[in-house]
Amino acid sequence: MGTPPWAPVIFSPFFFSFFFFAAGFLVGSSAGGEAFSPVDSYRIACGSPQKLTVHGQEFLPDTERSSFSLKSSGDGALSAAAAAAASLPSPIYQSLRFFPEPASYRFEIRRQGRHWVRLYFSPIAGAGSGHDLTAASITVVAGDFVLLQGFVFRGSGASFVAKEYSLNLTAGELVLTFLPSNGSVSFVNGIEVVSAPDELIADEAAALPAAAAVAGLSELSLETVFRLNVGGPPVTPENDTLGRTWESDEGYLHVNSSAARVAVDPAAIRYPEGGGLTTETAPRWVYATADAMSDANVTGSNFNITWVFAVDPGFRYVARLHFCDIVSKSMNNLVFNVYVNADLAIPSLDLSALKGALAVPYYRDFVCNASSSSSNGRGGGELTVSVGPDPMADLSNAILNGLEVMKISNGAGSLGGAASARELLPEEAPQRRRRALIVAAAAGCSAALALAALCGGCCVLLRRRSRRAGGAPHPWLPLPLYGGGGLHSYSASKASTAAASGKSGGGATAASGASLASAAARGRVFSFQEICDATSRFDEALLLGVGGFGKVYRGALEDGTKVAVKRGNPRSEQGLAEFHTEIQMLSKLRHRHLVSLIGYCDENREMILVYEYMANGPLRSHLYGAGLPPLPWRRRLEICIGAARGLHYLHTGAAQSIIHRDVKTTNILLDEDLVAKVADFGLSKAGPAIDQTHVSTAVKGSFGYLDPEYFRRQQLTEKSDVYSFGVVLMEVLCTRPALNPGLPREQANIAEWAMTWQKRGQLVQIMDQALAGKVNPASLRKYGETAEKCLAEHGVDRPSMGDVLWNLEYALQLEETSAAAAADDPGGDSTNHIAALPHLLDDPPAPPAGVVTGAATGEDDPDAATSAVFSQLVNPRGR
Ligand SMILES: *[C@@H]1O[C@H](CO)[C@@H](O)[C@H](O)[C@H]1NC(C)=O
Ligand SMILES: *[C@@H]1O[C@H](CO)[C@@H](O)[C@H](O)[C@H]1NC(C)=O
Ligand SMILES: *[C@@H]1O[C@H](CO)[C@@H](O)[C@H](O)[C@H]1NC(C)=O
Ligand SMILES: *[C@@H]1O[C@H](CO)[C@@H](O)[C@H](O)[C@H]1NC(C)=O
Ligand SMILES: *[C@@H]1O[C@H](CO)[C@@H](O)[C@H](O)[C@H]1NC(C)=O
Ligand SMILES: *[C@@H]1O[C@H](CO)[C@@H](O)[C@H](O)[C@H]1NC(C)=O
Ligand SMILES: *[C@@H]1O[C@H](CO)[C@@H](O)[C@H](O)[C@H]1NC(C)=O
Repeated sequence: MGTPPWAPVIFSPFFFSFFFFAAGFLVGSSAGGEAFSPVDSYRIACGSPQKLTVHGQEFLPDTERSSFSLKSSGDGALSAAAAAAASLPSPIYQSLRFFPEPASYRFEIRRQGRHWVRLYFSPIAGAGSGHDLTAASITVVAGDFVLLQGFVFRGSGASFVAKEYSLNLTAGELVLTFLPSNGSVSFVNGIEVVSAPDELIADEAAALPAAAAVAGLSELSLETVFRLNVGGPPVTPENDTLGRTWESDEGYLHVNSSAARVAVDPAAIRYPEGGGLTTETAPRWVYATADAMSDANVTGSNFNITWVFAVDPGFRYVARLHFCDIVSKSMNNLVFNVYVNADLAIPSLDLSALKGALAVPYYRDFVCNASSSSSNGRGGGELTVSVGPDPMADLSNAILNGLEVMKISNGAGSLGGAASARELLPEEAPQRRRRALIVAAAAGCSAALALAALCGGCCVLLRRRSRRAGGAPHPWLPLPLYGGGGLHSYSASKASTAAASGKSGGGATAASGASLASAAARGRVFSFQEICDATSRFDEALLLGVGGFGKVYRGALEDGTKVAVKRGNPRSEQGLAEFHTEIQMLSKLRHRHLVSLIGYCDENREMILVYEYMANGPLRSHLYGAGLPPLPWRRRLEICIGAARGLHYLHTGAAQSIIHRDVKTTNILLDEDLVAKVADFGLSKAGPAIDQTHVSTAVKGSFGYLDPEYFRRQQLTEKSDVYSFGVVLMEVLCTRPALNPGLPREQANIAEWAMTWQKRGQLVQIMDQALAGKVNPASLRKYGETAEKCLAEHGVDRPSMGDVLWNLEYALQLEETSAAAAADDPGGDSTNHIAALPHLLDDPPAPPAGVVTGAATGEDDPDAATSAVFSQLVNPRGR
């Protein structure tokens, strides 16, 4: 179907507060107790430069919202705004966002159950940047359900379309994916995701033709295809507590003259006590108007009022009929028959008998098929609803007050066609399984990072494919680029030595003689033979892992130096050029805390990079998952300080600032002495020379670590690395993954979870239990504060890496000094170190941050005292 390859790039978890807008509550909420308040409430004006108010409801621009996220590829996700044609009923149609590639909006869902998902579309002329939006084929997938498949404006005669779906969301999130096809784009103008009352849709409904009731509706998705205020004017969202729109029924009457409008004062409507029928079922304005028989004295079994709806014949529908006897003057006067399609749905309906009073609302649901035979020759399916007199009744009349027709998702979980979400979503798309989503996205993200990174096309494809497929058995390998030769010339000297002695082997040794100096600067040039020797001809037994770039092998140079050899997959000309560019640029980076490039080989169209071997692998495996012994607090601080130094150097040390863009615990490697080095600069964004070939504002990074502000504004600064580093700090303290979708919703994201506790001064509650009793409280507090600042919402509020470094060093000093004091005074340990804590995580979730006032403020004193005592010790190195 021509769907472009899935190219996840933007993905960012924002778990912030939500809004809801309560304008609709003021009206008509007198019956049925308190008004419904939606827990989840998102209203988005896509591509809009400013917020909009539509029918009293506020729609925020999709660039500003922080409670959902947008994932799209490359340069996609473009917005366009235009003056809406006068015929467009709402300002929501004035802007849109279009997507040349699959793109997803992701919404955090706080309350499981029924939600409205409303989508607004209008193909603004000229907005598609060359694409004719009227020809754009739009497919929308929501979680496991397909909402829309291949919808095209052209030929439909419509200039705008509003869609409403009712989904039972049982996961902690909703991912709405827009899939373009046929070489075109997809687009959307507005989105609403709003909680709906669960009672609204029962699990069971009567089936027609009369059969056993249909059960299981609660697990299906519904699309509202028609919603009518019969006999009255349209009811706008202002007048509906659930923000629904009710059309007038005028256009659907089979015979206009068959119906006469009747209306009463809405205040006369009496919602029943109990029983669940409230203004949420339908507003009183709906019940206060009706169509009745235009000639109430006609008797005859054939006379009826019929409404005809064109529907998709391949689907089942729920028809909800709303009644309220607003015409009778006395009880038991009005008795009539109700038909759906040709079937007698309710014989001899006497509303007053059912309700014991007049003007009391009542509704019935029926599940029916579209009738395939079309009476008006339209050819498609149709659904008819009729009310007509009961021949046995004294008075010949019949009424209908409101009508909703809802399409039921089919066996493929689709409301749009035969294909299931699984079939429509691109290969390996993260939406496949809810639980797998985050994990898969993380992998996909880091893969797609390669896209705009410095690597050439070949690296990109391979990296993406293998990272995705493999689950990265050795994610710590310094796969993409490299650091320089090392500040302390540790590697550089080894490399030089190796180069000097690197005489053997069939291939020419380029790093000889006069060019030695430049070779040293750029790393050693290896012959292919040397590489083969070092890796026993790429012995699979030495395989450390497979990355997107290619395979990585452990190896040893002739002089015994252990190396990691990364063999790129066969290259293109462009790949070669970029390979060299990278070597040149990154060879300028030399630092003890950056993983060093020893050399490279570009013989025989090979692209091989040789790095220093990091014996202790990635930091992450020392934190959790690999069964390694827990690192002591002091060691953790030293590792964080090392990594911070590496990043600080990247940001400030080179001629042009370099932003790493993928700071995470798998990219911090430890050498044999557990010295931390930052690896994987594959995503680094460097100067304009590099940018020229990869101009992209698309957001890149790893899920769980991505700076929310970077995501929103797509402006990359060093502060994005600072944010990611803040996540690393929390991970190091709590020894759990940045994202753990298996945990309860509020705990899944470490940045969010740890900040909740940090803001209460209770970070200790969630720290690694292995540290209990072994951490100086002041040191921990400093550390927590530092992480908190790194995780600040706005980049300007975050410290520089230099400040982070300084603060971590201070935390280390606090720890060292307390350890020294404890050694002097062995009895004093318990006052200096945090004792083991009861395991609090099984308790009910913490209240949202901000609600709780700092419980630990009384404990500020130790910190203050310590900082006074040690202020003289503070050495602002690293500034
Ligand atoms: C794809 O586009 C072409 C030309 O615009 C059109 O003829 C064809 O019907 C489209 N196919 C689908 C499946 O939309
Ligand atoms: C939603 O679906 C779940 C099962 O998938 C069910 O237990 C729950 O009752 C449903 N909720 C509603 C409101 O239908
Ligand atoms: C909607 O509510 C307003 C008052 O808020 C009322 O004046 C108006 O008549 C209502 N419209 C409809 C169609 O019910
Ligand atoms: C019935 O009324 C509607 C709306 O007023 C109008 O569009 C339609 O043409 C009428 N149909 C007939 C058969 O008069
Ligand atoms: C129905 O018939 C009764 C008398 O049989 C008459 O009084 C009444 O006006 C008629 N109603 C209509 C709507 O024609
Ligand atoms: C409704 O009336 C039409 C004629 O207006 C008739 O053809 C049809 O059979 C009637 N439907 C029912 C269910 O009585
Ligand atoms: C709808 O039609 C299908 C066959 O086309 C049948 O199996 C199913 O029971 C029908 N559903 C209802 C509610 O009548």
